[in-house]
Amino acid sequence: KRLILVGPPGSGKGTQSPIIKDDYCLCHLATGDMLRAAVAAKTPLGIKAKEAMDKGELVSDDLVVGIIDEAMKKPSCQKGFILDGFPRTVVQAEKLDEMLQKQGTKIDKVLNFAIDDAILEERITGRWIHPPSGRTYHTKFAPPKVPGVDDVTKEPLIQRKDDTAEVLKSRLEAFHRQTEPVIDYYAKKGAVAQLHAEKPPKEVTAEVQKVLSS
Ligand code: AP5
Ligand code: ZN
Repeated sequence: KRLILVGPPGSGKGTQSPIIKDDYCLCHLATGDMLRAAVAAKTPLGIKAKEAMDKGELVSDDLVVGIIDEAMKKPSCQKGFILDGFPRTVVQAEKLDEMLQKQGTKIDKVLNFAIDDAILEERITGRWIHPPSGRTYHTKFAPPKVPGVDDVTKEPLIQRKDDTAEVLKSRLEAFHRQTEPVIDYYAKKGAVAQLHAEKPPKEVTAEVQKVLSS
């Protein structure tokens, strides 16, 4: 399947992605994860992206479209993929359509992680991540066995630099202004499925599975 996950910061896209990936054998492309890896490695791309990311603003369409164009060429992405955090502007959605048209394919479903803004601050400020594996924890909702330590590798967990209440405000503003129109763009094509992203993780997973098996 060719899927897009869209929703505000903290809505659960990164939490559901590994489960969807395992069940449907897809490749998982998360532009945020790829950009954070580039920032950590101080690559030319990372240097260009860092300022906007730290402020909670979107990086330029050209940069992220370039990353996705490159990543989608991987053999593992030929049969299907999950896009997590892309497209985030209507321009990005149009570019993606062009890319897929060239391959003679299209998006099957857009999963909309619908949730009230008020819930998101607690989710974002309590999040801890293990960047090498992409595993995500939460001090209250999904605590690791040992605080600050990854369950599997025992390596330290970190908090994202943009996971503060302050930066969350800009990220939410960017979501409402620039990304909500993307949901309308796909709704017109009849491709959007609504999820109740405020529910506990397992219930959201069940909703995702229902949508994908129908
Ligand atoms: P990105 O990394 O995509 O961040 P985001 O969209 O802000 O989304 P998050 O990763 O914060 O949320 P999530 O939905 O994955 O939540 P999670 O599952 O971890 O982007 C970061 C930045 O990169 C952007 O600001 C921008 O600068 C740049 N960028 C990226 N893509 C771009 C693009 N296409 N164009 C331009 N710029 C781009 O869950 C959050 C927490 O809640 C976790 O702790 C988790 O354990 C917990 N949780 C999850 N689900 C539940 C649940 N159901 N109940 C209770 N707790 C839950
Ligand atoms: Zn994420």
